[in-house]
Amino acid sequence: MSGFLRQTLRNVTGYVPGEQLDRPGIIKLNTNENPYPPSSKACAALATVSPEMLRRYPNPTARAFREAAAAVHGLSPDHIIATNGGDELLRLIFATFAEAGDRIVSTDPTYSLYPVLAALEGLRFEAHALDNTYNLDPQAFLRFACGEQPNQGPATIALIVSPHAPSGMLFTEAQLTTIAQGFPGLLVVDEAYVDFIAPEIGHNLLPCAQTLPNLILLRSLSKGYGLAGLRFGYGIGHPDLIADMTGLTKDSYNTDVIAQALAEAALRDQGYAMDTWQRVRAEREYLRSELSALGCRVYPSQTNFLLAELPPLANGNSRAATAYAALKQAGILVRYFDTPRLVHALRITLGTPEQNAALLRQLKPLLT
Ligand SMILES: Cc1ncc(COP(=O)(O)O)c(C=O)c1O
Repeated sequence: MSGFLRQTLRNVTGYVPGEQLDRPGIIKLNTNENPYPPSSKACAALATVSPEMLRRYPNPTARAFREAAAAVHGLSPDHIIATNGGDELLRLIFATFAEAGDRIVSTDPTYSLYPVLAALEGLRFEAHALDNTYNLDPQAFLRFACGEQPNQGPATIALIVSPHAPSGMLFTEAQLTTIAQGFPGLLVVDEAYVDFIAPEIGHNLLPCAQTLPNLILLRSLSKGYGLAGLRFGYGIGHPDLIADMTGLTKDSYNTDVIAQALAEAALRDQGYAMDTWQRVRAEREYLRSELSALGCRVYPSQTNFLLAELPPLANGNSRAATAYAALKQAGILVRYFDTPRLVHALRITLGTPEQNAALLRQLKPLLT
């Protein structure tokens, strides 16, 4: 730590991203990337980026991308802000809509970046525990968000990941709209994994994001579009909310010309993206039933990962911790969170059928 570090950051612990081992042949099932490559049309868009485009600044609001997203979602572009990954959107939301000292709420567990970003902005982060199936009681959450202590008052911002990470649980439209309508602050529904929801469920918060004045949806191209390396995400919400961020807190050129071109091409190629989502869903069912048959408790998931609780070892210690280390040794990375609630669990990103089969081969002897 340098002597120049701001006083208020001296006790803040930074976000620790999932491991990025660069060993050849490693099977990476730890950071929820798409196992399939991005659309070939996105890759072809790289070739359209000319030296002249690189010489000039990019379009400040990623206009062509926003038009593509608007067409795909049936919205107008003024409902959309393009960001450098979904993570930048979170930072912008905090910087734009909360004062230092304000109370920010989410669920426990939740995306572990939220408390870190809140601390960086000098905000107070508090979390409401999900029940033991990772479900959310909207009325209980509303009471918590609105402030149960005397003189507490409502939180400024509430963040809910849905489908939820790390459990995979999808909260229903009814649950989420009840919260949005009963909460006087801003509700962020983090839909980083929305693309993997089974289409027959018919889940769709886009109409609410058009009508409710206090709802922002977070979207990411990292998961559904196989573009985690590109760093591209977007927010969807009321034009006034979008304009506050676009006009005030966003960097002038927060997304670059290469990223804009690839993101637009990837989003326009819905057919290809949907095919990868369907393949991931098929593997989700398969891996869930295999892991259950091996004695794991696997939570229902509408994402591209599974949360599996492994039975404890005979001495009560975490079998998940041992399995994580053994898998890593065998060249397979999964995510292990060393927190009381998740001590027996592994979060496993769905890979290709071959990768999932390799995972099962390694896991079986550890579970029998
Ligand atoms: C719940 C959740 N929200 C948002 C993000 C941000 O994604 P990105 O910044 O890659 O778009 C992630 C990434 O892991 C995530 O898990």
